[in-house]
Amino acid sequence: MPPSPSPHERRLAAFGPRLRRLIARLYGEARAEALWPRVSDLISIQAAARPAPLAALDLLREADPAWFVSPEMVGYSGYVDRFGGTVAGVAAHVDHLEALGVRYLHLLALLKARAGDSDGGFAIADYLSVEPRLGTMADVERLTERLRAARISLCVDLALNHTADDHEWARRARSGDPRYRDFYHVLTGEQVQAAETHLAQVFPATAPGNFTYVPEMGGWVWTTFYPFQWDLNWANPEVMLAMIDTMLRLANHGVEAFRLDSIAFLWKEVGTDCRNRPHAHDVVRVLRAALDIVAPATLLKAEAIVPTAFVPPYFGVDEGEGFEPECHLVYNNSLMVAGWVALAEQSAALPDAIVRASGGVPRGANWLSYARCHDDIGWGTVLRDLAAIDADPQSRLRAAARFTEGAGESWATGEPFQSDGSVLHGTNGTLASLAGLESATDDAAREMAFRRIALLNALAIASGGLAVTYMGDEAGLLNDHAYRADPDRMHEGRWLHRPAMDWAALDTPAARRITGDLARLRDARIAAGGAGAPAAFDTGHPAVLGLSCGGDRVFLNFSGEPAEVDLPDGWHDRLDDRPLDARPTIAPWRLLWARPA
Ligand code: GLC
Repeated sequence: MPPSPSPHERRLAAFGPRLRRLIARLYGEARAEALWPRVSDLISIQAAARPAPLAALDLLREADPAWFVSPEMVGYSGYVDRFGGTVAGVAAHVDHLEALGVRYLHLLALLKARAGDSDGGFAIADYLSVEPRLGTMADVERLTERLRAARISLCVDLALNHTADDHEWARRARSGDPRYRDFYHVLTGEQVQAAETHLAQVFPATAPGNFTYVPEMGGWVWTTFYPFQWDLNWANPEVMLAMIDTMLRLANHGVEAFRLDSIAFLWKEVGTDCRNRPHAHDVVRVLRAALDIVAPATLLKAEAIVPTAFVPPYFGVDEGEGFEPECHLVYNNSLMVAGWVALAEQSAALPDAIVRASGGVPRGANWLSYARCHDDIGWGTVLRDLAAIDADPQSRLRAAARFTEGAGESWATGEPFQSDGSVLHGTNGTLASLAGLESATDDAAREMAFRRIALLNALAIASGGLAVTYMGDEAGLLNDHAYRADPDRMHEGRWLHRPAMDWAALDTPAARRITGDLARLRDARIAAGGAGAPAAFDTGHPAVLGLSCGGDRVFLNFSGEPAEVDLPDGWHDRLDDRPLDARPTIAPWRLLWARPA
């Protein structure tokens, strides 16, 4: 009898053909033929190097591929230095994460970043080293052991679109090595002009344009973000090989989820807007197939901050050759933005539309939902959704942005990002400050702010996604205005909402209120058994969003007025455990979590 195949052989037989086919789609059949032995070598090496506890996790999760689509899955995201000081310091605070029920931890700025400004750690100088002041890879392995024991999966950023300009590849390219020059895009002035006419700008105020002239490169390097972030040339298969290898090595260090940073921008085709190109999806599919073979316990998460309609394909699609999976998790950025629009205009119309556009998640996949993160609230992603509701979506969004930046009667304390406020771009501020806690001067105003915070947390939780809390939001941390006086950070407005964790603040009444509300919402979701794609129901009230969660009905009142809604007879309030009238009233900014009797 032939020996039974090893898990690696079994997976290679099952998923290798998909990987091979995708490589051919990207680089052509002839090159795929030549590349395949190198691809299969590097995946076999990393499969053989997979540590036993991770290999065991692979088997468990293969048997239960939707393991993370669960009402229990709430997460946390924060900076290593600002949360724990060092990697070992993060390990010392795992108890805080456990108390929040966290099952997933996204650590920002862990890998070795560029010297000097690094876009908050997103200009990576070495993917396989830890930022030296924070610790070593051995510390990361120890941290992942501690996290695994607590059933918390570590997520790390894989910045695929660009390296830092001091990454070894960039240094070699600059010194004239043709192999590495081909890792980047170098254009002539004329080509830049042709390309720019089709491109938008991510940082129009602090990093205008998409190209940077680099004399040693003898041309313009493609730099979508900051000039020191050099976009990688994915049309060169060497980039793909290097990144597959990097990803698998990190997975073998114990990383259980990769946040695929800025993946919409990966594939460049001059003459297009270079976002969401078909081959960008093929690259993600390649990474997924490699993980399916070597490290199937590992999740891929798409960070595609693009208009709503372009986002679901990052879960994967069937293009005639069977379903080709991409990411297990995808940020529901539009729902986050819609929550802030709803607060500003006291209308549930936009989140209702986004929830209805967010259904249909494939099996073994889920949205990642959130109220705030380390980035700005980028308003433009929902422009088209609003166009279906309003003839002048630009003005309507600008009004929401201005409100969130504190204009007029607003309770919010926020700042425009990459704009002087006259054009629509983004808004910065912490959850608490944008919800009114910073401007509140009395208990009544503070109470309203707490309600708005709970409302946005409820939107993330009751909509069924992997709901992630951004560091400090559980403690109601306010904006960090000190960034303006710090020469290293003053040019980058997003530092407004990246205050260092204030451990003492966890003991304040404000933090107890916010974490208490968060825990009640999470417990309610677990009791309701709600997870997966969000579902909206009609509440009959324009300011009240209805979300089905398991068999429960959750009503979010986005207005400053009481709202009456209808329920069948005999329903109960799940949070307060009391019977409800058939026509209950929801107080201003409150939510009602109703369960059947
Ligand atoms: C992602 C990150 C953001 C960063 C950008 C460029 O959008 O979330 O912080 O500036 O990518 O890497």
